[in-house]
Amino acid sequence: MKLPVLNSPYSQINNLLYKSYLPKIINSAIESGLFDAVSGKSLSLEEVAKELNINVHVTDALLRVLVAIDFMKKQDSCYSLTTLSEEYLVERSIVNQLRAVKMFSGGTGPFDDLTQALRGNIKPFDNKMWMSEQTVLAMEQGAKAGEIQAVVSFVKGTPGFGEAAKMCDFAGSTGYYSFALLQENAGLHSHVYDLPEICALAKELKHEEENFNRITYHDFDSAGAGSFGSCYDVFFISRFLYECRADRSLLTFLKKVNNSMKPGGLFISSHISSSCANKESCLTLAIAELMTRSKGYPTYMLPVETLKEALNGVGFGEFTTPQPDEDIAFPVQLLSAKKVKDVE
Ligand SMILES: C[S@@+](CC[C@H](N)C(=O)[O-])C[C@H]1O[C@@H](n2cnc3c(N)ncnc32)[C@H](O)[C@@H]1O
Repeated sequence: MKLPVLNSPYSQINNLLYKSYLPKIINSAIESGLFDAVSGKSLSLEEVAKELNINVHVTDALLRVLVAIDFMKKQDSCYSLTTLSEEYLVERSIVNQLRAVKMFSGGTGPFDDLTQALRGNIKPFDNKMWMSEQTVLAMEQGAKAGEIQAVVSFVKGTPGFGEAAKMCDFAGSTGYYSFALLQENAGLHSHVYDLPEICALAKELKHEEENFNRITYHDFDSAGAGSFGSCYDVFFISRFLYECRADRSLLTFLKKVNNSMKPGGLFISSHISSSCANKESCLTLAIAELMTRSKGYPTYMLPVETLKEALNGVGFGEFTTPQPDEDIAFPVQLLSAKKVKDVE
């Protein structure tokens, strides 16, 4: 047999394929109670296996994997969690991302129908996808891993926010951004507009949360002609404008936003960045966009220049657009603008 000379390393593909096993491995570690058991401690292999009543030989190999991906540290024959796993993989952590890990470990995946989608067989996107309690809770938990913190730190430093009294949180789901922003301004009341099913869920899930009485939920479907209130000092919108952009109704929608705001009011937008510098983040964003389109949702790409141009045309100015923070799982492009004139 005459073997060909190789011109590229197959390991590049093999390493990728093996990494694709990681979600199931991590999920098994979670299901066995490994991260919770080791949290705040330093345990030997035997202690870990005994505490969890699991096989020492297999656990040894599992711990090696977890050390290799920086989820655990090994020192003097003892294992402990890294800050990363302590923060996101331990059940009692308020920002744990256990739901997200689980979603990657199930039997069916978002790309099962990709070949069909490439052939043009794409099912129309179903808005009901947003409506389950599981989805709503998963979105909130995901946002707590950096997005809400980025929004709060940006908004509280924006001139005008401290004096604002009335805010709209458009397509605000159960109002988790509102709850976080209300903490930063004691005189603020928020009006969350979302689909009726979501508002009903919000009232059920949030009625015991501090500041619930400072939020009013409004049943609203943007597909209809209804109004979304008036005299806002702040109009906040996160992860909603993609759809408007795709069906060219962005300008019409932003005009309505202008009409709902007081002169000088503050418009704040948070949408997944359509560009990034870090190669790993770029790949995540590219895969997420592929998932989005193959599932029949138009796009989640909203270049900041497109948004600025549209806002400029409907009475907004004085833009601030900080560099997206790529430590966030999906780096968000934040934008603030001021309503500089009324438009008809
Ligand atoms: C991607 S989620 C964003 C939720 C939240 N703003 C955030 O950033 O995490 C989109 C939100 O838009 C809402 N939504 C979808 N279609 C809508 C419509 N036609 N009218 C009003 N809200 C809608 C969904 O219920 C959901 O809460």
